[in-house]
Amino acid sequence: MKVIRSREEILSFSNKCDKEIGIVPTMGNLHDGHLKLVEASLLNNEVTIVTIFVNPKQFGPNEDFQKYPRTLDDDISRISSLEELLKNKDNELIIFAPSSVEEVYPANFNTVISVKGLDNTLCGLNRPGHFDGVCTVVYQLFSLTKAKRAYFGLKDFQQTLIIRKLVKDLLLPVDIHLIDIIRDEDGLALSSRNKYLNVDERLQALTLPKRIKNLEQLVKESGISEAMKKTKIYNKESNVDYFHILDSSNLSPVSNDTCEVVIAGAMRFGNTRLIDNTLVKINA
Ligand code: PAF
Repeated sequence: MKVIRSREEILSFSNKCDKEIGIVPTMGNLHDGHLKLVEASLLNNEVTIVTIFVNPKQFGPNEDFQKYPRTLDDDISRISSLEELLKNKDNELIIFAPSSVEEVYPANFNTVISVKGLDNTLCGLNRPGHFDGVCTVVYQLFSLTKAKRAYFGLKDFQQTLIIRKLVKDLLLPVDIHLIDIIRDEDGLALSSRNKYLNVDERLQALTLPKRIKNLEQLVKESGISEAMKKTKIYNKESNVDYFHILDSSNLSPVSNDTCEVVIAGAMRFGNTRLIDNTLVKINA
């Protein structure tokens, strides 16, 4: 398995490559949720490029950029365990792990990609500039790899909507594929940040998926307005960033035209902020 560390080498590879490329953008510290994305790409593309880059532009000044777990050797061995899924010997699995920030953003890189409208709710409110950082790096990674398909996890639901809008607005020639949330047996959604939790916090963190499930049941059994009353109660708690029920197509308030809602939550356990969500069809 090839590991590419420089901008020059990834560009030289993608410019010459005459096969269809699938990209799995990650920030490393890979868990089974990431591996599902890689598997999906391996099934559909002759070349899969997994990118591993902790993108400074998507972290706020008081966020965890410095301490974000960097585990490249482990990540490489986890990805190489999937090589057996390559459908034939001409298919390739490649890791692009830029050796420095400049390999992605060279000196004098001055562009910010900003998708307006979808970032004024949920995580966009608590993390100003976060989604501009995500859009800028995703655009850059698409350009560097010339990927035809890209794979993202639904745990970051708002991110998936924003990236789909970016691709639509800028007519990017990339198909976006979304993969379901993978959970531990007790229900906690897999996240690289789960590693920060101590034993007590790990137990408390189950409150998040339990509340999402609770709200889902309320939506199904008692209706949206009962579920919304419950979110208001949750939102008063000091370790809750938000619980919201929104139209899943555009994150606007639920209306008569809404066919599906996203129930999204973000909570803090110690210094760790976790997010989770589920989608529920309504008016079916
Ligand atoms: O979801 C993530 O891990 C990141 O936001 C992404 C898409 C890799 C961009 O840095």
